[in-house]
Amino acid sequence: MLFKRKKPVELSTVPAPCNVGIIMDGNGRWAKKRGLPRTAGHVTGAQVFRRIAKYCEKRGVKYLTVYAFSTENWKRPQEEVDSIMNLLREYLRESLADFQKENIRTRFIGDRTKLSEDIQELMAQAEASTAQKTGMVLNIAINYGGQQELTRAARTLAERVKAGTLTPEEIDEQMLKEALYTEDQPPVDLILRPSGEYRLSNFLIWQSAYAEFVFMDDILWPDFSEDDLNAAFAEYWRRNRRFGGV
Ligand code: IPE
Ligand code: IPE
Ligand code: MG
Repeated sequence: MLFKRKKPVELSTVPAPCNVGIIMDGNGRWAKKRGLPRTAGHVTGAQVFRRIAKYCEKRGVKYLTVYAFSTENWKRPQEEVDSIMNLLREYLRESLADFQKENIRTRFIGDRTKLSEDIQELMAQAEASTAQKTGMVLNIAINYGGQQELTRAARTLAERVKAGTLTPEEIDEQMLKEALYTEDQPPVDLILRPSGEYRLSNFLIWQSAYAEFVFMDDILWPDFSEDDLNAAFAEYWRRNRRFGGV
């Protein structure tokens, strides 16, 4: 459903959904509108991500998944991919200090084996150093694709069948769900996407089976604000979730 921004009156008191996914889209168009290179949009987008992630924790979101780089984004010009990877590196170095102050547990979802070794090492450090945090779980999706995730889960279960520790009949939805990167996390309640594209682009395809979608078409990610997030939360509570019931 389309979404129109409404006046952000008292919206900061609207309760937050438990599990939120954000497709951080529109960096390139934001830069182009300003006559800047696309990479400038990613720089600002990365700053907005830091701010909004902290704000989500403050607002009581329990699980936040942000789409930072998809399995399809390797198709972009090498220069743009390099610049995104450099921003990730910078974020990881900084977050090792900065995020210690926050009660946020950071996890990375996606196939990290394709990333450079120093980035993989920093990711492992960021996860280990926040593993004991009790607040919001922040999943950062890097080289993530829902189809890749499901394929990997199928392979994990097939290997257990091959090893003789599982029979095909024992495989159920719960088992498949637990073989996803998000493991024991609850289903996604709300997916939001700025930038005017009305699609999932391979994001959380299993986890969002019953999610509410809020597509915000009058805003690009680098302009995304706390008021926009609260407005999306308000829209979420206007929906009638039936889960197949009546
Ligand atoms: C999202 O912004 C960031 C990444 C995909 C890494 P885009 O770079 O897709 O921006 P647009 O959609 O081209 O404007
Ligand atoms: C989805 O955005 C991926 C991220 C935001 C990281 P894209 O810009 O890559 O998606 P498409 O190509 O418009 O579907
Ligand atoms: Mg895009």
